[in-house]
Amino acid sequence: MNKKHSTDKILEQKVDALLAMMTLDEKIGQMTQVRHFEEIPGDAISNGAIGSIIHTEGPLPGSNAASWQATFTWLQKKALSSRLGIPLLFGVDAVHGQNTYEGATIFPHNIGLGATRNTKLVEKAAAITAQESKATGFNWVFSPCVAIPYNEKWGRVYEAFSESTELTERMTRASVLGHQGKRLDQNSIMATAKHFIGDGATDNGVEGGDCSLSQQEVRERLLPPYQAAVDNGVGAVMASFNSMAGLPMHANKYWITEVLKESMGFNGIVVSDWKGYSRFGENDIINAGIDMVMAVDGDFVMYQEGLKAGVENGQVSHARIDDAVRRILRQKYSLGLFENPFPNSSLIPKIGSVEHREVARQAVRESLVLLKNNERILPLDKNVGKIVVVGEHADNAGLQSGGWSIHWQGSSENYSGSTTILSGIKRLAKGEVIYDIDASSDHKDVDIAIIVIGETPYAELFGDIGGEIDAYQLTLTENHKNYINTYINKGVKVVTVLISGRPLVTTEIIHQSDAFIAAWLPGSEGDGIAEVLFGDYGFKGKLPHSWPKSVEDYQDKYGPNYWDSAYAPLFPFGYGLEY
Ligand code: GLC
Repeated sequence: MNKKHSTDKILEQKVDALLAMMTLDEKIGQMTQVRHFEEIPGDAISNGAIGSIIHTEGPLPGSNAASWQATFTWLQKKALSSRLGIPLLFGVDAVHGQNTYEGATIFPHNIGLGATRNTKLVEKAAAITAQESKATGFNWVFSPCVAIPYNEKWGRVYEAFSESTELTERMTRASVLGHQGKRLDQNSIMATAKHFIGDGATDNGVEGGDCSLSQQEVRERLLPPYQAAVDNGVGAVMASFNSMAGLPMHANKYWITEVLKESMGFNGIVVSDWKGYSRFGENDIINAGIDMVMAVDGDFVMYQEGLKAGVENGQVSHARIDDAVRRILRQKYSLGLFENPFPNSSLIPKIGSVEHREVARQAVRESLVLLKNNERILPLDKNVGKIVVVGEHADNAGLQSGGWSIHWQGSSENYSGSTTILSGIKRLAKGEVIYDIDASSDHKDVDIAIIVIGETPYAELFGDIGGEIDAYQLTLTENHKNYINTYINKGVKVVTVLISGRPLVTTEIIHQSDAFIAAWLPGSEGDGIAEVLFGDYGFKGKLPHSWPKSVEDYQDKYGPNYWDSAYAPLFPFGYGLEY
């Protein structure tokens, strides 16, 4: 079956020839991914017991890109010294730029890219992410997330492009093309469509919850972005934490093997998500079609021993193991790792380059959605006498970037190479600009107040609303409402900029503000926002999600169709004003 899909017969012959030489231990080794700082036996890599290395939150591989490359080169040389010398894959969550490396260009999260509807721009962003990820030693990124978020209570809405299947399909195609090129080759970084399937469509938006959609709705609304990814040669697909009608997706042979691999023709790697082996049924996930396991955080030994025992006692067939290893070897050959397994040091100067940051700034500008502009208060006149800028989000690159930025859960600090919303305003305004971070100063004689409010960074279940860790809410905090009321009560005109990973219930403050902008999570180039506020560029963004009117509407919001029923959103999908 697999060979039918591979257009490179010579490559398949190489795969088969290498596979034929491998022992069971070496095959299970290829199916194993661990962290570079994981507690693994020192000789595991040189014994061929590891197929891939992942970098996630934790000790950095080095202090600069050259030392990151050196660390991965050292690990790669250990793998090449093994009996068969099969090179390693190095994977990273570069989900909006190489966001684990401080100094990299960090793009708006996918929800903002969805608002641009600009596939060429998304392709460029992916290509830059690929370059900066390769410059830090990687050949695999766990991106794009192609979920269709059904409920804004989900903590990962911002990782996806849109609630619209059609828009997500287009963005997915562009993202895979940008990361990999027209086909997976030595110039590519391998992309990963994730999380298969139903991650954003769980009941009440619970991360890792149960998706009770009908099979027909999954096929109509959630599957098309994966088909787009597969049709464009995506190298990997990551299984999802959620269950489908009670069965963990990792152990779902129907969707992974029968649908994704067989009927959709996916011939790449299905990789588990975090600790997928111990969490979702051990050898059941291999039999369902998982090819490589993130055997992290204590799973390494029990995974390798458990899978070997499963093969020896017949629970897992040799054919299943060979299919998994063939897929892994196929991608390693396609990426050219057998010819050139080492990072390219000439890419290092491109990290965070002026050119890259200009593309990211364009993405910031095009992602902004103007929801209100009373009496055409915007664009602002650069010669306006006195502007007050309010809110901690106005001068904090960490807060404007959201989760998966420098750290897994994001940061609340400025980080190197970034610009903030305030720095952009100060760069363009000709008059006085005052920063009143918490609206506590008494500035009455200002001409305009630009008030920047929003969510603090979160990732995964930590962003769920009403879930296990209920740290967030669908409305703004009282503090932030107070920022706005303080200046409105002074009779000052207010421009409100919302930094958030999802639509929030902001009906009241939109009513109070003279202008209101949804800015999503702009990333490192915060100064791009000022360029639109002052009219150097127009608003182009359109809502990638319908915008809620009240919290009640989200008690059990369940999908974009929701709006077809009794409820009408405050603003529909696709809404956005222009100058
Ligand atoms: C996480 C996420 C997944 C990520 C992986 C590796 O739990 O669900 O999106 O790629 O683990 O960090």
